[in-house]
Amino acid sequence: MNPIRLGVNIDHIATVRNARGGDHPDPLRAARAVLAAGADGITMHLREDRRHIRDADVHAVKAAIAAPLNLEMAATGEMVRIALEVRPHACCLVPEKRTEVTTEGGLDVVAQHATLAPVVAALRAGGIRVSLFIDPDPKQLEASAAIGAPVVELHTGAYALGLPGELERLRAAAVSAAELGLECHAGHGLTFANTPPVAAFPEIRELNIGHFLVGEAVYVGLYAVIRRMKAIMDAARLLPPG
Ligand code: PXP
Repeated sequence: MNPIRLGVNIDHIATVRNARGGDHPDPLRAARAVLAAGADGITMHLREDRRHIRDADVHAVKAAIAAPLNLEMAATGEMVRIALEVRPHACCLVPEKRTEVTTEGGLDVVAQHATLAPVVAALRAGGIRVSLFIDPDPKQLEASAAIGAPVVELHTGAYALGLPGELERLRAAAVSAAELGLECHAGHGLTFANTPPVAAFPEIRELNIGHFLVGEAVYVGLYAVIRRMKAIMDAARLLPPG
């Protein structure tokens, strides 16, 4: 089987912790729990406003886990400095607006080439695998390859909202990512119900999923949720795509 990895985004463990201002629940404990359940990596978004994950969380998780850490961040000087200090396995560059509830759209790699190119270069020089979070758009894929990013993460938000034609756009984008030599990841808004068609695309090597998994864990626990999502992804891999 062509394997597919699950990166679990633990931001919302920190959201719950921060609601009370103490240290419970602890994102590091959650990271250990999801890895024990079979997750392949940990994803954390250090937002500029530190609304959930804080700098200390990133350092604590990096120091304590051997699995790949994927740090989501805006392409700013501050974040590049932090990434080069922490040295995560990967950095996923995302657009960030202070007023948004979550990452609303993909990066505009075409329009922001001048800003993104030095960030991609600095992170790569630091030995960090760079991923660009983009909409499944051919122009963005070409620009991502041209800028020298080895990985793209396709924004699945529009698909998750059920918008017509979005699964087809994801399929076409995954195929062209592979043709351009880009490793292809995907994420945003994925659930038990809508993950299988995306996980079935053989070009997609990793899914990063957070909000649904943390929410569902309220009912059945992190361990059960991660086991079930891994089983769903593995089963989808055995299906013909589409
Ligand atoms: N990938 C990226 C780049 C994201 O910004 C997010 C949201 O933080 C996710 C994946 C996970 O999205 P969700 O929390 O909706 O599963």
